Amino acid sequence: MKKQPSMEACLMIIFGATGDLTFRKLIPALYQLEKKKELGNGFGVVAVARKPISLKAYLQKAKERVKTHTGEDFEESVWEDLKERIRYQPLEFSNENDYESLNETLSNLDQKIGARGNRLFYMAASPKYFEEISRHIKKKDLYNEKQGWKRLMVEKPFGRDLISAQKLNQALTKVFQEEEIFRVDHYLMKEMVQDLIMIRAANQIFEPTWNREHIDHVQIISTESEGVGTRGEYYDQAGVLRDMVQNHMLQMLALTAVELPGNLTAKNLREEKNKILQSLIPFKEDSLEEQMVLGQYQGYREEPGVAENTSTETYAAIRVFLNHPRWLGVPFYLKTGKGLKEKAARIVIQYRLPMGSCCLGKTKEIEEPNRLTLNIQPLEGVVLSFNTKQPGTLDTILPVNMDFCQNCLIGMNTPEAYEKLLGDAAKGDQTSFTHWKEVEASWKWTDTLIDWAGKHPEKIKFYEKGSQGPPEAINLVHREPGRKWL
Ligand code: BG6
Repeated sequence: MKKQPSMEACLMIIFGATGDLTFRKLIPALYQLEKKKELGNGFGVVAVARKPISLKAYLQKAKERVKTHTGEDFEESVWEDLKERIRYQPLEFSNENDYESLNETLSNLDQKIGARGNRLFYMAASPKYFEEISRHIKKKDLYNEKQGWKRLMVEKPFGRDLISAQKLNQALTKVFQEEEIFRVDHYLMKEMVQDLIMIRAANQIFEPTWNREHIDHVQIISTESEGVGTRGEYYDQAGVLRDMVQNHMLQMLALTAVELPGNLTAKNLREEKNKILQSLIPFKEDSLEEQMVLGQYQGYREEPGVAENTSTETYAAIRVFLNHPRWLGVPFYLKTGKGLKEKAARIVIQYRLPMGSCCLGKTKEIEEPNRLTLNIQPLEGVVLSFNTKQPGTLDTILPVNMDFCQNCLIGMNTPEAYEKLLGDAAKGDQTSFTHWKEVEASWKWTDTLIDWAGKHPEKIKFYEKGSQGPPEAINLVHREPGRKWL
């Protein structure tokens, strides 16, 4: 049977098409999809931005960025095919006339390429324009529900606190139904994050032990070696709590802790994740210092766009508990930050030590517990650490690893997050996008942390760039017997 392309007939309308996200992620992802023949007949792209440039100039820039991305693998013929699908439309986000001419472009293209009236709107502009753009989409009838479907993809940040997120959601839901909104969290598209569910569901050895009786604690880690780079202005207003914790870190936590629904549908999984996020135990202000360490890398204040005396946090380590029968008393340690020693993300499940002693009648302490490590990046894979006997002895315990390196085996070419998320949204599959209720619960919990950070700038710990982070954060885990950052 002939393989169906994942991107069916539709027009993808990118607002913010000259921005960093479009050139760094969206266009390269479209190029890869074109190369894999995933873009079907009737699929077209309308790149919309404020810059009054020609299509030729736009394509030139887009091509350069794709070339940077693909390096030696760039194929002119693939680019030529993709180029044919792209139009450029200058538009001031507040100008009604501009939306009218955009509408004309869309109708003409519909006729010309056979996009069947399907519309995939992508908000890649600055979040401050999201409400205005969606209002105009409705007012100027940029879709026709009698003819085809409409969907909206929204980039993070989805608001900057609970109130602003609620306001944004109200504005978007005046135009789009929840089933039509695809809130992007690119961590949900990472292979090993998606594998979390499969590993539990498809292996009898893990699911029965995935609970407080057997698990001592969980670590969820995503560190970066780079600083804020050219995003200082945005980042200084956000900090790591808004930029990483409220979304990527809590989503990884939710997927680790979730109850597996009997029927694994997008709806059921998202409902279960929401229950986990609702069960996050809120912090009391006076105990927060014990549970969270915030840091800032030295040199951050000199980065372009960053305020001179800023107390914005670039690092957070947090001890989190859930009010959930499966996880009562089990700490989830979150660690994330910029300007650290390595770029890496992983989830580690540390099991309890076995009860009693071992080794043929001799009393021996077992020192290393079992661990299941999901390496998310740069290498993808699973490592199971367990104890065995040192060959040649009867009572010497030897901790060893079973190591499955996914991208060593299959090659480094697993599809990138943005290829997958465009394909899923075009198919209408919401499994790896966040439901509004999840976003709301995450803000509710994170807002307390953000408020505390704002009130206590003096609590920020400074750390050397390229280090492991502030020593106080190391203590957050190391003060508990048998635990250390992994
Ligand atoms: C983004 C944050 O959502 O995720 C960035 O805004 C961060 O600040 C990035 O660098 C990390 O993503 P990844 O996939 O590189 O780990």
